[in-house]
Amino acid sequence: MENIDILKEKIIKLKNEKQAVIVAHTYQPREVQEIADLVGDSFQLSKFCATDSRKLIVFCGVHFMAESAKILSPEKKVLLPEISAGCPMADMANGKDLIAMKEKYPEAKVVCYINSTAEVKAVSDICCTSSNAVAIVKSLKAKQVIFVPDQNLGAYVSKFVPETEFILWNGYCRVHHQLDSQDVFNRKQEHPEAVVVMHPECRAETLEFADFVGSTKAIIDYVLNSDEEEFIIATETGVIDRINMLDPSKKLYLANERLLCRNMKKTNLEKVLLSLEKEQYEIDLDTEIMDKARGCLERMLEAVK
Ligand code: 13P
Ligand code: SF4
Repeated sequence: MENIDILKEKIIKLKNEKQAVIVAHTYQPREVQEIADLVGDSFQLSKFCATDSRKLIVFCGVHFMAESAKILSPEKKVLLPEISAGCPMADMANGKDLIAMKEKYPEAKVVCYINSTAEVKAVSDICCTSSNAVAIVKSLKAKQVIFVPDQNLGAYVSKFVPETEFILWNGYCRVHHQLDSQDVFNRKQEHPEAVVVMHPECRAETLEFADFVGSTKAIIDYVLNSDEEEFIIATETGVIDRINMLDPSKKLYLANERLLCRNMKKTNLEKVLLSLEKEQYEIDLDTEIMDKARGCLERMLEAVK
């Protein structure tokens, strides 16, 4: 394996030569976060990619994220350094089954979490991320909402919008869903002073232990701006790397050792360099699906500017 610093230098040099931009989700390995132009949550990254002028995007994340960047900017070349980096939760919903559900609930508006395929976005009314889901559902003023694919995020959001009836899809993120109340309780016993922060992809009964619930960006901001020193982190371990990079004085404990997204960890510096060199793996989507899915993403960006 090449020396990390040499790899980083090569990546930055080639990125500048090609006038490319590198973005990374906060769950990416630390060395990948270190070479990115922007590290953020799904919402920040999709907004940034839509407005940045560079025509070549290296998206260090999972498939649906790079796909969203491509949908919003079809004229740009969007690369995913590891082709098999997917999101199993996004794959728990497909267009055909969603259309069948819409037929069952014809009055319902369909809100799809950004962690979904382009095909699902194409048949949804509006998209949301974990940072804006409550605002998005409120903006619809709908009597009934089909929330797809994350049942946990949907259940969490429904508490803030009691006037809307939620029909929840049966999907979930394996990384967050596996965390149970007992894990958090045990960590709290070990670190009684620690503040518990959680991602809304965790199950409702686990979220009851949270002092704060938010998207990855909201969690990071909360920890950095807090006067407290110790935190139990109930989301993917990359968030700990991010906070450590920004403020090493915080004491952070992962709520359990299984909070690791294998797909997010498939990207590394070698693959980022190869991606830039060979311009691989290019996101290529059916134009009709992309055109339909774009409305869903654009309505989200419009609703929560
Ligand atoms: P964020 O919307 O917080 O970036 O989360 C995305 C995700 O995949 C969480 O598991
Ligand atoms: Fe998908 Fe979960 Fe990984 Fe996020 S953490 S990318 S929801 S599998």
